[in-house]
Amino acid sequence: MEHLSSLTDWTPEIMTEVLDLAGKLKADPKAFARAAEQKVLFMIFEKPSLRTRVSFETGIVRMGGHAINYDVTTSPLGAGKESLPDTIKVVSRYADLIVARLFKHSDLTEMIAHAGVPVINGLTDYSHPCQIMADLLTIREHKGLLKGKTLCFLGDGYNNVTHSLLFGCAMAGMNVRIGCPGGEDFEPLQDVLDKARELAAPHGGHILVSQDAHEAASGADVVYTDSWMSYHIDPAELDKRVAEFMPYQVTQAIMDRAHKDAIFMNCLPAARGYEQTAEVIDGPQSVVFDQAENRLHAQNAVMLRLLSPCDSLDD
Ligand code: CP
Ligand code: NVA
Repeated sequence: MEHLSSLTDWTPEIMTEVLDLAGKLKADPKAFARAAEQKVLFMIFEKPSLRTRVSFETGIVRMGGHAINYDVTTSPLGAGKESLPDTIKVVSRYADLIVARLFKHSDLTEMIAHAGVPVINGLTDYSHPCQIMADLLTIREHKGLLKGKTLCFLGDGYNNVTHSLLFGCAMAGMNVRIGCPGGEDFEPLQDVLDKARELAAPHGGHILVSQDAHEAASGADVVYTDSWMSYHIDPAELDKRVAEFMPYQVTQAIMDRAHKDAIFMNCLPAARGYEQTAEVIDGPQSVVFDQAENRLHAQNAVMLRLLSPCDSLDD
């Protein structure tokens, strides 16, 4: 049985096949209207969500299945009356798939250890693989071949989205430049960088971490940013973090350092005036709503892959 905990659960070839399937799902959704008939998706969220919650539910329904959104706050799990392993063993007797948005990645790993059905990571403190599947689909639509393209991420390097971008872009043969403040509170985890460099090497891809936002953005095909105040960050940290990250704000001047046809991306939710200016996110280079739409198509492909790892790619 396959799960999607991190993009590195897959080979680069499988990841590409799932992206191809996502393209087919987007081009001809009617052809997949019964692809998940009678399948039940169980969704458990410990943190807020718009895109992940709504796109997964919409996606499974459009493929003939059904979603259950489970409210942790009113559950035996949330009340401390039932353990995570028991919860997941019970759910595995009802549902065909699980999507989980959890604070701790170690809880996702524990969930997977006890699950009788595939589990999809809907975001943890470590990674956000579904987002990056949608992002790669979006970059492919706007830029064609992924191999050899350069993505610059500016802002919080010690971040779930940044980690998954490093994995996914390296697996796709892209170069990645992270522009972020120095130090372990702001830079990507060293083991993620090591793994990304190992994945990029066969394609001749480069991974760079720089404290110079202009250097990181120079000549990039994609400029990407994410919230400076991720869901798990204490609101009391706001002023300190704004001071640290402001030199990495994506402005039009930064976009002008990138390739003239560069696209701007943000996984959303976005805060105008913080990780990017309104001029950039609402401007002509922004593809943020294509990204948001592509969550649906990419995740439908992920679900079909996990429901039927051997034959989902033959459609
Ligand atoms: N990008 C993303 O995962 O959005 P949500 O937090 O709204 O699910
Ligand atoms: N890094 C952000 C991503 C939100 C989709 C967070 O964890 O809140």
